[in-house]
Amino acid sequence: MPHAIIRVERSISELVRMGAYVGKTRALMPLSVDGRGFFITAYEKPDSLVVKIEKTTRPEITDEIKSSVLNVAEKIADFLKGSVVSHNLRETGNRYIRCTRVVEKHGLSGLRVIVPRTPVEVEIGCGDGSFIVDRAVDYPDRFFVGFETSGRAITAIKRRITKSGVNNVAVFHGDAVLFMRLMIPNSVDIVHVNFPEPWFRFRRIKHSLSSIRVAEEVARVLKIGGIFNLRTDNYPTAVASVTAMSETNVFKPVGAFYITVSGGRVGTKFERRWLRKGRLIYSVDLEKCSVYGGSVDLKEVGFPLRLEREFVIDGRVVFKVLGRYMGVGEEIIEVAAGDVLRTQHVFFGFRNGKFYPIPQSIFIMEPLFVKALLLASSRG
Ligand SMILES: C[S@@+](CC[C@H](N)C(=O)[O-])C[C@H]1O[C@@H](n2cnc3c(N)ncnc32)[C@H](O)[C@@H]1O
Repeated sequence: MPHAIIRVERSISELVRMGAYVGKTRALMPLSVDGRGFFITAYEKPDSLVVKIEKTTRPEITDEIKSSVLNVAEKIADFLKGSVVSHNLRETGNRYIRCTRVVEKHGLSGLRVIVPRTPVEVEIGCGDGSFIVDRAVDYPDRFFVGFETSGRAITAIKRRITKSGVNNVAVFHGDAVLFMRLMIPNSVDIVHVNFPEPWFRFRRIKHSLSSIRVAEEVARVLKIGGIFNLRTDNYPTAVASVTAMSETNVFKPVGAFYITVSGGRVGTKFERRWLRKGRLIYSVDLEKCSVYGGSVDLKEVGFPLRLEREFVIDGRVVFKVLGRYMGVGEEIIEVAAGDVLRTQHVFFGFRNGKFYPIPQSIFIMEPLFVKALLLASSRG
């Protein structure tokens, strides 16, 4: 994770005067880059201070983010009478890979240019590219855009594109949400997600492709009548995807059901793997039916919260206060809440005995998450 190490003479408790929220050994600094809020965290080591992105609030790392972190680290060092002694926040250039002549010519702005002209399909998490490249061969009059975070997978896709000779595919290396934000609204015909990472490992929750942050971008970039298609061998993933997509209020199922057992095949590596193991493949097919008007206003949610209740377990429900950070006039609290198998790690603002959502934390109001909040706020 990108970070800077600084040597300082003063304690982090003084950072509250810089607008930070300070806990026992850690401080959180709110920041906004590209219109998105996130936290930078600073924590004390025996002889230094580490400054880095709070990863639960900003999983995608861009050059802009790195330079913001470095900037804040330098300000903190200055404020605490110290200096940055090392960091890995150098800019690395654009994080996308140009795979076609069109994109090579226009760069990322080319994405805006190309998109409205021909039918466009997007694949999120395109892995080794087997699906998107085969589809590009089958539909030469369509344009395909793939997003993939794994560098190794990107190398495999490039090889596949070169071998097949297609020139209607562009693959971008990085977080799909970041790239979808660069695409113009109502411009994509189909968004495919094939076998996203399943949810059941704690460390993967924040990267889930079935989250509201992904759903909101899909809702924004799809045309009216455009299709969202997700395939998975993991039923809870299908349910989570439907839940997140439904929060945008613009989707209806293509057929009679939100989730069906899929008969057709997409031929990806993961599909082959799960079919070999005899698993069922589920399909979520949704149609965008009205204009997407923006994000759900979570600020309306506000619960009185009993902070002395450190841990609540009621069957499968967990609520745990992980940290409290004092700011000027308000606090930030760090909470693990929700289903014991899929606990969400979030930050809330806290003022006058009530807590409220803040832009730095994204979460899904799934039933057990809401139940955890209610239990924490109402039980004696
Ligand atoms: C289980 S693999 C499936 C790959 C391929 N679709 C298949 O079916 O073989 C999930 C892929 O999604 C990618 N991925 C996960 N989160 C992503 C994100 N936020 N943006 C882009 N790609 C992502 C991972 O790197 C991984 O290659």
